[in-house]
Amino acid sequence: MALLDIQDLHVTFQTNDGQVHAVNGINLSLNRGETLGVVGESGSGKSQLAFAVMGLLARNGRAAGSVRFDGQEILNAKPKLLNRIRAEKIAMVFQDPMTSLNPYMRVADQMAEVLVLHQGASKRDAVAESIRMLDAVRIPDARGRARLFPHEFSGGMRQRVMIAMALLCQPDLLIADEPTTALDVTVQAQIMTLLADLQAEFGMAMMLITHDLGVVAGACDRVTVMYGGRIREEGPTDPIFADPAHPYTKGLLAAIPRVDQKGDRLSAIPGSPPNMSNPPPGCAFAPRCDFAMEICVQDRPALAAFAPGRARACHAEISVIREGAAPHDDLPFEAAADEAGALSTPEPEPEIEAGLSTGPATAGPPQERPDDPR
Ligand SMILES: Nc1ncnc2c1ncn2[C@@H]1O[C@H](COP(=O)(O)OP(=O)(O)OP(=O)(O)O)[C@@H](O)[C@H]1O
Ligand code: SF4
Ligand SMILES: [Mg+2]
Repeated sequence: MALLDIQDLHVTFQTNDGQVHAVNGINLSLNRGETLGVVGESGSGKSQLAFAVMGLLARNGRAAGSVRFDGQEILNAKPKLLNRIRAEKIAMVFQDPMTSLNPYMRVADQMAEVLVLHQGASKRDAVAESIRMLDAVRIPDARGRARLFPHEFSGGMRQRVMIAMALLCQPDLLIADEPTTALDVTVQAQIMTLLADLQAEFGMAMMLITHDLGVVAGACDRVTVMYGGRIREEGPTDPIFADPAHPYTKGLLAAIPRVDQKGDRLSAIPGSPPNMSNPPPGCAFAPRCDFAMEICVQDRPALAAFAPGRARACHAEISVIREGAAPHDDLPFEAAADEAGALSTPEPEPEIEAGLSTGPATAGPPQERPDDPR
C-alpha cells in the first residue's frame, strides 16, 4: 500500500473575479522511503497540492477528491485528525523559514514546544531532543545556538532550524516546498545534501517541490512535472532527464543552468503560464509549445502511460519531440485561445530575461488557520 495516495485531487479558490482552478484532477502516489520531485513554473499548483494534503488551504480554497495517508482518508478530515497527522506523520518545510518561525521565541523554546504539546514530553527532555536535532542538521555548536532567536541565524541556518523542527516528531513523510529557493547556490547545495542524508538516515518519504528541475536530479527517485494544475509528465528521474517525453519538460530541462554554458542567459520558456480562472479547453501549454498542432487547441491530452513507470499528457509523437520541431507560425493559437478567453494578460512578463519566473504566487503558507489550534 502506498504511504500517500492522491486520487483526482481538485483545488479551487473562490475570488471576486470568479473561480481559480489551481489543481485539476491530480493522481499521485508515494511509497515509504521514496523521494518524489514535484516540478513546475510559478503558479502551476505545486504548493496548493501540498496545502490540500496538509489541510492548510486558504479560507477561500476548496479541495475535492481523495488523499489517503497510510490507507486513511485525510482530505477535508476533521481538525483533530489533521492535527494528529501533522504532528506525528507528515511535516512540511516552507520556502521562507521566517513565515514559520516565531521571531520572539528562542529557537530551543519553540522547538521544545512542539514536543511538549504533541508528545507530552517534559520541557527538559524536549530541549535536549531539540538540541540533538539541531546537531543532526549540522548546526555547529547546537547547544549554544539553541538559545538564539531566529533573526540571529543566517538564511541557510534558519532553513536548517526549520528542517530540524520538521523532523522532531520523526514524520513518515516530509514535504519540502521550495526549501532552497531563497538561498544562494552554495547553501542550496548544502541543504539538498543535508535533506538527502537525513532522508536516508530517518527513512522517511519526501515530496520535494521546486520550480527548478535541476534541483531534483540526484535527489529524487521519481519526478512529476506540473503545468496549469495538471500532471504533464511523470516517471523515474533518470529517464526523464535523458529522454523527456513532453515539450514542457524539455523546456524546463533547457532552463537548468549549466556550468559549460557561455554567457548568463538561460533558455527560459517564452510566454506566460495560463490564466487559471479561465483554463483553455485544449492543452494549456499550446500557446507556448513549439510542437503544437490544431488538435491541441481543442482537445485536452489525457495523461497516458507509454513506458514502464512513465506517463505523459501530449498529442505529439514522442519521436517528434525527441528530434525537436520547428516552431509553427501557421497555427491560430492566439485567435483560438483568445476566443476561449484562455490567454493570460494580467500577469506581467517576468522582469528577468534569464531563468524561469520564480516569484511566489502566494506568500508562503496561509497565515490564518481557523480550525487549527496550534
Ligand atoms: N488564496 C488564493 N486565492 C486565489 N487563488 C489562489 C490562492 N492561492 C493560490 N492561488 C492560485 O493558485 C494557483 C496555484 O498556486 P500555487 O501556490 O500552487 O503555485 P506554485 O506552483 O506553488 O507556484 P510558486 O512556484 O510560485 O510557489 C496560482 O494561480 C495562484 O495564483
Ligand atoms: S498537447 Fe500539443 S500543445 Fe500540448 S504539449 Fe503536446 S504538442 Fe504541445
Ligand atoms: Mg509554491
